[in-house]
Amino acid sequence: MSQVEARPNQCDIGFIGLGVMGKNLALNLADNGYKIAAFDLDHQKIEDAIAQDRQESGEGGRIVGCSSYTELLSKLSVPHLIILSIPAGEIVDDVCHKLIDAGIKADDIVVDTGNSLWSDTVRREKDYRGQFFFFSTAVSGGEIGARFGPSLMPSGDPYAWARIEPVWQAIAAKVDSQSGKAIERFEAGNPVKDGEPCAAYIGPSGSGHYVKMVHNGIEYADMQLICEAYHLMRSGLKMTPQEISEVFFKWNQGALESYLIEISAEVLKQIDNETQLPLVDLILDKAGQKGTGLWTAVSSLEIGSPAPTIAQAVYARSLSTLKQDRVSASHLLQGPEQQSELLRNKEEVIQSLHDALYCSKICAYAQGFQLMQMASDEHEWSLDFANIAKIWRAGCIIRAAFLQSITDAYQRNEDLNNLLLDPFFAEQINVYQTNWRKAIANATLVGIPCGAFSSALAYYDSYRCETLPANLLQAQRDFFGAHTFERVDQPAGKKFHVDWSSKDRPIYPV
Ligand code: 6PG
Repeated sequence: MSQVEARPNQCDIGFIGLGVMGKNLALNLADNGYKIAAFDLDHQKIEDAIAQDRQESGEGGRIVGCSSYTELLSKLSVPHLIILSIPAGEIVDDVCHKLIDAGIKADDIVVDTGNSLWSDTVRREKDYRGQFFFFSTAVSGGEIGARFGPSLMPSGDPYAWARIEPVWQAIAAKVDSQSGKAIERFEAGNPVKDGEPCAAYIGPSGSGHYVKMVHNGIEYADMQLICEAYHLMRSGLKMTPQEISEVFFKWNQGALESYLIEISAEVLKQIDNETQLPLVDLILDKAGQKGTGLWTAVSSLEIGSPAPTIAQAVYARSLSTLKQDRVSASHLLQGPEQQSELLRNKEEVIQSLHDALYCSKICAYAQGFQLMQMASDEHEWSLDFANIAKIWRAGCIIRAAFLQSITDAYQRNEDLNNLLLDPFFAEQINVYQTNWRKAIANATLVGIPCGAFSSALAYYDSYRCETLPANLLQAQRDFFGAHTFERVDQPAGKKFHVDWSSKDRPIYPV
C-alpha cells in the first residue's frame, strides 16, 4: 500500500459534484485546512464554489477548479481521495467508470456521500474492488449541516476508513461531551475543534447507508407527527399559525426540544410578502418525497420488523398528493359535527397533543432502532446503537435532546431489544399515555386525521400485549389453506392441522 504522497501545491481531496450540498461540504473541508480539486459537469457550479471560497477566505485558492476527471486526478496527492456529492442512482456508476477511464488506481479511495440505496453500495463495493476502494458516507443535515457540521455515517473497508476518519471528524458537527448538546457554529472559518464529532464508523459496506435510510424513515415519522399536532391545533382548535408557532417554541424548551420542532416554529411565524397572509397557508398541501422513507418502510416489511409509524408517514405523503380526489371527497363524504367540546378545553387539548407527540416519537424511534437491529443481525453488521444515537445528537435533521436519552438507554444495555423496554422510556410512556390516548380520541371524534399518532399507539398497545388475536388468524389460515399452527400446550415448532369442516369435529351447540 503506498504512503500518502503530499506534493507542494497539490490538492488533498478531489471533489465531484458542486450542487448545494457538494459546494457546502467542499467549503467545510476548506475551512478545515484541506485543499480541494473540484469538478462538476456544470462549469458554472465550479466557478460559484471558487467565488464563494474567495469571498469567505479573503484570498481564495482553497478550492481549485478542474475541467476533466483526468485533470482532477493529476491535481491530487496519491493515493487519491475523491468525494462524490452527486444524486443517488446510475450516475454514481457513471462517475466511477469515468474515474477508471481517467486512471484511478487500486489504492485510491472514492467516497459516495449521496443518499444511495444501501444495497447499491454493497454491490458497488464488490464491483470496484481491485480497481479502487469504493467507500460510502451517508450525510445528514441538509445544506446548513454540510457547510457547518453534518452528521456522518461512514461504512466500508477499514483501510479507506483509516484514511477518511480524520477528515470526517474535522468537518462533522460536534457535541459538548458534558451536556450532550450540539456546539453550534454558523459562520465561515473558525471550525469547532472541541467536542465529540458526529462521525463514527458504522460497519461493513452498505451499513452506513442503511442507517441513514432509517434516519430518514424516522425523519418522515417525526415530521408527520409534528404536522398532525399542527393540524389538530389549526383545524380543531382554530388556532392561527402564529399561535401554533408560539406553542412549538414553548415545546422546544422541554422534552420535545429538536431541530424539527424548532424549524416548524420558525415556518409558522413567517408572513407572505405579497399577501401578508401566513406563508404556510399559501403552500400547496401536496408533499414530495425522494424515496428514503419508502425504502425504510419496504425494508421493515421485508425484514418483518414492524415500523407502522414510519410507513404511515410515507402513506400520509402519498395521500396528500391525491389533492383533486380530496377536494371532490370533501364535498361528498361527511365527518362528525361540532368541535365545541375541544374549544372549551383548549389548554388541555394542547397539553395532550404535546404528550401524544412525545409518546409517538418514542415509538417511531423504537421502530427505527429495532429495524436497524434486525438488519444488523441479518447482515452481520454488529451495529453499535449507542454510537448511532450519539452521532445523531447534532448535525442531522432528527437531532434532538431526546437522542441523548437513547444514547443512555443503549449504554445502559447494549443488547436492548426495543427502546420501549428501557426503564426510562417505559416510565415516560406510563406517565404520558393517558394524554396520548386523549389526543387521538379528540382528533378522531372531530374527524381530523392522525394516522401517525394512532399507528404509534397501536404499535405500543400491540407490543405490550401478551396475547394477540393471531391465534384466530392462524386458525383462519389453517381453515382455508391447511397452513398449520402451533399449540400453546405443545412444544414450540410442532405443527398441527385440523379438518375444520369435518362433521366429526366437536363444536359448541348453536
Ligand atoms: C438529511 C435529509 C436529506 C433530505 C432527504 C429527505 O438527513 O439531511 O434527510 O437527506 O432532506 O432527501 O428528502 P425527502 O423528504 O424529499 O424524501
